[in-house]
Amino acid sequence: MRPLCPVQISGVGSYLPEQRLTNHDLERTLDTSDEWILQRTGISERRVLESGRATSDMAVEAIRSLCDSTSLDPSDIDLLIVASVTPDMLFPSTACLVQSKLGIPSTWGFDLSAACCGFVYALSTGVAFVSSGMRRKVVVVGADAMSRIIDPKDRNTCVLFGDGAGAILIEPAVQPENCFIDAFHEIDGSGGDSLCMPAGGSLQPANAKTVKDRLHFVKQDGSTVFKFATRKMEEASRRILERNKIAPSELKLMIPHQANARIIRGTAERLNLRNDQVVLNLGNYGNTTAATIPLAMQDALLEARLQKGDIILLASVGAGFTVGTTLLRWAY
Ligand code: UT7
Repeated sequence: MRPLCPVQISGVGSYLPEQRLTNHDLERTLDTSDEWILQRTGISERRVLESGRATSDMAVEAIRSLCDSTSLDPSDIDLLIVASVTPDMLFPSTACLVQSKLGIPSTWGFDLSAACCGFVYALSTGVAFVSSGMRRKVVVVGADAMSRIIDPKDRNTCVLFGDGAGAILIEPAVQPENCFIDAFHEIDGSGGDSLCMPAGGSLQPANAKTVKDRLHFVKQDGSTVFKFATRKMEEASRRILERNKIAPSELKLMIPHQANARIIRGTAERLNLRNDQVVLNLGNYGNTTAATIPLAMQDALLEARLQKGDIILLASVGAGFTVGTTLLRWAY
């Protein structure tokens, strides 16, 4: 997917809840250990959203942080896309709730559901709107409160996830050479059962049995997802690099979805990327689903690892299965 006109990311904002949940905290309630979690996933701690607050609150905070770091006035946002699998409720959309909380009367927006690929899919959607001239200032938010849908008694899943939000601004490019280059996307619904939340939708509406059977929590066949993610992260990365004639050595950074350090390191090794070309920050936040890539972008900016003109590869694989890679030249 190549845009009709050059489009850039003009800013990044983020939000992380204050409360930390460390591996040692989890050792107290689960049959697990800091050593197992660290070795198998690379995660040390994650953030947990306080009760009474929801995904829309984190999205609002991330957008406020984006406005603080750019000259964006919230009332200038003409499209708001919220990627999340943990909307405040099934409807109204979280985008509507965010719009109301920000008090921006004349905007448009919607939610996008693609699990861990939510951010890259929403980014491509935003790019399509700006490059076609239909919108000029699009804000894409990846926000997930995974703590709300993980089973605190299931050690297979509850050690993996955390809460957080990241937001970006997409606008027409100021310098046409520093822009979004291309995106590659794919879905494979045959993997649906491997990572899902079985109940709470139209197939199994909430009832006493679904609650008793703990079906409103994330279920994952970790090893199937691991194998698929490992294969597809590399395949989708190679595909977008090759069709744009960019060698891995030309990448300043690969910013991958943060699910497991072993998936990221394995992909980087097979692509012959050096450690300094890869952003790995899940140790501090765990897997925040749609928020991992903008949170990693924010950390890369804070560490001065992103400069104007740098070629960046985003890569993600998630529930669905969903697959997405994005190539861009950093614009500021
Ligand atoms: O973001 C969306 C995409 N998601 C992913 O990409 C996640 C992909 N999957 C993974 O990251 C990994 O498969 C996991 C981290 C979930 C699991 O790692 P693994 O190396 O695949 O472990 P496993 O599932 O094969 O389990 C190995 C053992 C099992 O024990 P037995 O059956 O060998 O006795 C598990 O019961 O580790 C056990 N185990 C644990 N032990 C201590 C599973 N979870 C834990 C735990 N603490 N938290």
